[in-house]
Amino acid sequence: MGNFEPIIVAFCCHYCAYTAADMAGSMRLSYPANVKIVRVPCTGKVDVQHILQAFQNGADGVYVAGCLEGDCHFKNGNTKAARRVIYAKKLLNEIGLEEERVEMLLMSAGMGERFAQTAFEITEKIRKLGPNPIKKAKKS
Ligand code: FES
Repeated sequence: MGNFEPIIVAFCCHYCAYTAADMAGSMRLSYPANVKIVRVPCTGKVDVQHILQAFQNGADGVYVAGCLEGDCHFKNGNTKAARRVIYAKKLLNEIGLEEERVEMLLMSAGMGERFAQTAFEITEKIRKLGPNPIKKAKKS
């Protein structure tokens, strides 16, 4: 597992995390290329099914990054997403995957540094967990 490079799917809200990722880029802050960003209009559009599908398609980790509490442009999309992430954790547990493979994060558009830092932290955490066992099972 020494040179395992995880694939991490980050569902990022257009108004905050996606802009924060952009800001990280303009501040010349690097973050791991392991993180594949999927821009969504609001994290409220991310369903449990999307999270599970990402794992099924080979992601080793998934995170959903939305606006800070009270700042969602669609009122409560971020709280809905947080509930769905909790449910996805439960489902992962049931199928024998570590629940730490999925997380919910909140940030503002100006948090470029936080975006980059979090991308490093999550990549490191997933690297320690190892490859998604579903991916291995699909290959064999
Ligand atoms: Fe950003 Fe809803 S608009 S999480």
